[in-house]
Amino acid sequence: MDKKWKTSISGIVDGEVHIHGYKITDLINQVNFTDAIWLELKGELPTEKERTMLDAILISTIDNGMGPPSITNARNSASAGNPMQAAVAAGVLGIGEYHGGAIEECARLLQMGLAASKLVEKVISSGDRIPGFGHKVYTEDPRAKQIFEKAKKLGFFREHCELAVAVEQELEKLKGKKIPINVDGAIAAVVSDMGFDYRLGKGFFIIGRVVGLVAHIFEEWVREKPFRRVPNEEIEYDGVSPRKLK
Ligand SMILES: CC(C)(COP(=O)(O)OP(=O)(O)OC[C@H]1O[C@@H](n2cnc3c(N)ncnc32)[C@H](O)[C@@H]1OP(=O)(O)O)[C@@H](O)C(=O)NCCC(=O)NCCS
Repeated sequence: MDKKWKTSISGIVDGEVHIHGYKITDLINQVNFTDAIWLELKGELPTEKERTMLDAILISTIDNGMGPPSITNARNSASAGNPMQAAVAAGVLGIGEYHGGAIEECARLLQMGLAASKLVEKVISSGDRIPGFGHKVYTEDPRAKQIFEKAKKLGFFREHCELAVAVEQELEKLKGKKIPINVDGAIAAVVSDMGFDYRLGKGFFIIGRVVGLVAHIFEEWVREKPFRRVPNEEIEYDGVSPRKLK
């Protein structure tokens, strides 16, 4: 029968959940979490090298301190008294084009098949910044370096990684200073070389970051008093001076 809701990812067959054809009980028994993530996204189980690479990518996204919006959103939401699912959702909503989101747009650009010079010209001439490049603190992002080193060792440093390095060089020529590939750019290049569609870009960041969100939310509950707020000393009102209503 032609039913309305169709999926090729998972289903109940003979009374048991199957994911891309594998029984969930066999998966529970025989594979690890990263294998299962790859299976969900790609439809096949990964090779050992693919699993190791994806594992490294996911670890790089778990946490980068209390400062970034995803973690502060989650902790603020927890502090206000929301339950785990709401605080995690608040944290995920803190991910955006400037935080975690650059993976998707960078992978899209790398997957367009343009030469490095054309890619740089296209983005810069439209007044934008190239996603996946630049960092507030680092002149070389150690996470990007580690991901590329791992990709080289495992055989995933291919055309998209080479293109990302060429883009970095083009950008340096244009700007007269190094604007380094950041962790988002390195992830974008490697997942492109592993054959993932760019539209999964933010998904990798979300999958990893949820781990960090859960840990930070729990810590907020057990370590801090509820209703944290920005201290008054750090807030400045610079609007209209007090005035009377007529
Ligand atoms: C991450 C980021 C916000 C850091 O910015 P920053 O340290 O404040 O950099 P600055 O604003 O001081 O920029 C310094 C110069 O480098 C340029 N620059 C920085 N990142 C750039 C990029 N990705 N593409 C093109 N130019 C870039 C700026 O235009 C600026 O040039 P100018 O001096 O001619 O005006 C910025 O690099 C960026 O927007 N990157 C793209 C988004 C991204 O990858 N985010 C994920 C970060 S992990």
